Amino acid sequence: MKTVIVVSGGDAPGINAAIAAYTRLASQNGDRVIGAHDGFAGLLSGQLTEIDLPAVDLLSGRGGSWLTSSRAPALARRDAGERLSRVLAQEKIDNLLLFGGDGTIKFVIPRLQTWDLSCIALPTTIDNDVPGTDYTLGHDSACNYAWQTIEGIRATANALPGRIFLVETLGGDSGYLALAIAYACGADAVLLPEYDFSMDWLAQRLKTTVARRGYALVLLSEGVTGAERLTDEIPKMTGIRVRLTRLGHAQRGAAVSHIDRQSAVDMSRIAYDALKRGLRAGIVVSRDGALAVREGEATAAGKPAPDYQQYAFVNGL
Ligand code: F6P
Repeated sequence: MKTVIVVSGGDAPGINAAIAAYTRLASQNGDRVIGAHDGFAGLLSGQLTEIDLPAVDLLSGRGGSWLTSSRAPALARRDAGERLSRVLAQEKIDNLLLFGGDGTIKFVIPRLQTWDLSCIALPTTIDNDVPGTDYTLGHDSACNYAWQTIEGIRATANALPGRIFLVETLGGDSGYLALAIAYACGADAVLLPEYDFSMDWLAQRLKTTVARRGYALVLLSEGVTGAERLTDEIPKMTGIRVRLTRLGHAQRGAAVSHIDRQSAVDMSRIAYDALKRGLRAGIVVSRDGALAVREGEATAAGKPAPDYQQYAFVNGL
């Protein structure tokens, strides 16, 4: 069996560990693995490479991806099918292991089906917003990264009282990442794109918190646009200084947590078994604590909004 690995869209911590695990397993069984550079654009133009297992192994604990990714919609090109067939025939590729988020998985699997190429996808995004799975690879590492920053903020917040700290997380247009962090770290408020809030409520809550504890900590998802506006308006409404920290892309390139290393290995083993069995299309999903392959294309239904009970708990609603 010969598999080609393609990373498409935003990278996520754990991809290197998954590439290493899949390659190790395949080579132990006498199968071959190659990788495409620059996602599907690279696959279609034949930018293929043997996976350098020792190099990828060394990067297992690092975020990012040894195989470069791309957001270019290469498979939407009119000549995509023809170019793909040529590369598959030249390289004698049997199937494809895909790393990607929601948009990638939804678009790519049906597309590859029309060209008769077997594909198993691992959901990889720090945002944890892929429908049909409770967990996406990289989410835990991104939460851990936020923790380190928040601990530092708490130290200075305690030492010099009288400030409100806004911490903005990545997360795209969904709030799962910000809520997971806010809930676990005991933030005083969390602002998500899925739920509206009023500035009067927020100002009142932050004033009360600072009066009681000396500082307030607010987690803000990047999908709630206007971090600068909040940084300007909250002091006007509360009379308290506001300090903004943006975790930014360093959060996406975070060091890989133990949970993500283990998930990477587990997911890769499941994907390898599925491709070896000859499964045509599927996604490795986590449901109620167990990993499995869900056969077929991505679910058409979206993911339910972030847990309202957790949201209400953080915000004292
Ligand atoms: O991959 C998801 C994600 O990291 C989002 O959290 C974020 O909004 C986006 O990608 C950033 O994308 P880019 O690297 O293209 O700026």
